[in-house]
Amino acid sequence: MTARDTVHRIESEDLEFGPLVEELGSLLREPGDVFPERLREVVRLLERDLPLHFDLEEKALFPILLRRIPKGPIDILRQDHATARSLLATIAGAVRTADPARVRYASGALVSLLRKHMEAEHRVLFPTAFRMLTPGDRRELERAVRWIEAVGVPQAPIAGEPQWGRLDLREIPAWERPAVLSRVFRALSVGSTLAVRTHGEPSLLRAPFELEWTGAFEWIARPSGEEWTVDIRKLADEPRTRESEVLPLATARCLCC
Ligand SMILES: [Fe+2]
Ligand SMILES: [Fe+2]
Repeated sequence: MTARDTVHRIESEDLEFGPLVEELGSLLREPGDVFPERLREVVRLLERDLPLHFDLEEKALFPILLRRIPKGPIDILRQDHATARSLLATIAGAVRTADPARVRYASGALVSLLRKHMEAEHRVLFPTAFRMLTPGDRRELERAVRWIEAVGVPQAPIAGEPQWGRLDLREIPAWERPAVLSRVFRALSVGSTLAVRTHGEPSLLRAPFELEWTGAFEWIARPSGEEWTVDIRKLADEPRTRESEVLPLATARCLCC
């Protein structure tokens, strides 16, 4: 996936929300006091997918774009997200308590907000991103999106790798740690260092990591009381097979003679 694809990918998510928003609008025009079952489903889909889309924009795209454009338009989009999140919570609560009037009122407000919001993003935000982001910005955007998908939204806004080059594995179940570590390492750029905090001897963590990322990292582990800090420096985007482990066919020979 290239960084240009990352902007396209965020933009195409918006395009997928468009029909859902319009469907919600047309469901609201149906008469009657009881809301149809499909309305519950549309609300459920928006509730499931919109917050992650907002996170990708707020934590990855907006901070990087803010280096190139003034803050005002981005502040308006952020405010729209906050209002949409609050309306979604109101709708979901009103669906649960079977309050059709409240569902209709809040859904109507959400539909008109999202229509304007998505139009602003397609008319201004995404064309500006395609025009203004440098190749370096785009690479960083790609890494930020991969990071959010791998470990979720960091507490601090993403505005450079040092803020998101840390991984705390202490709250993650031991059996999930190798997979999480590998996903995060993949999101790191070559030459960067990931600082990992973990419980217990990190050699158990290193063994599966070594298998997957052979030759692509340096590993420095330091004990700190009951915990460990491991600095993992990325040397390559792909594992490297050690030359000593691959015998050229011409020199390979039977090990028993
Ligand atoms: Fe969007
Ligand atoms: Fe947005």
